[in-house]
Amino acid sequence: MANVMLLVGSVYGNSSSVAEECAELLRSAGHEADVFSTASLNDLLVRPESVLLFCTSTTGQGEMPDNLYPLISELRERFPLMPERRYGVIALGDSSYETFADAGRQCDELLQELQAQRIGDVLYIDACETADPEGVAIEWLRDWMTAL
Ligand SMILES: Cc1cc2nc3c(=O)[nH]c(=O)nc-3n(C[C@H](O)[C@H](O)[C@H](O)COP(=O)(O)O)c2cc1C
Repeated sequence: MANVMLLVGSVYGNSSSVAEECAELLRSAGHEADVFSTASLNDLLVRPESVLLFCTSTTGQGEMPDNLYPLISELRERFPLMPERRYGVIALGDSSYETFADAGRQCDELLQELQAQRIGDVLYIDACETADPEGVAIEWLRDWMTAL
């Protein structure tokens, strides 16, 4: 069974709610799952075995939510290569913005640069297409977690 750290970037609560529901499903499948609304790089480094699941919206003009930004900055600055680390990304956004789901895309690009191993494809959840981001995420997660 895996230990999953859900790393949340949220302004209005949608991504937080998605992360909480995903954590519940992971736990009910026997995994350990912890939701971090403000994680630091140290939180990751003390859990080298944990699988990272980023769950972030995009705000402003393609910006990272304030509660995820410090972790992303720390990763960019200290650039700890993590070839053993596995991760996934749930990217919430709204395709009426040119910068659709940019924050999630940035998380994925950064983790690729850090040589981490992505499980599955990035899940993009478009607010223009669904009013039920939790339901979309849960369907995706059922498949994603078979690779844990
Ligand atoms: C002020 C504002 C700016 C936004 N900017 C973007 C953006 O640049 N790109 C995007 O894909 N979505 C953008 N969105 C849409 C949000 O990412 C989307 O509504 C998401 O579900 C919000 O999740 P949250 O409640 O976790 O923050 C924006 C929404 C608001 C209200």
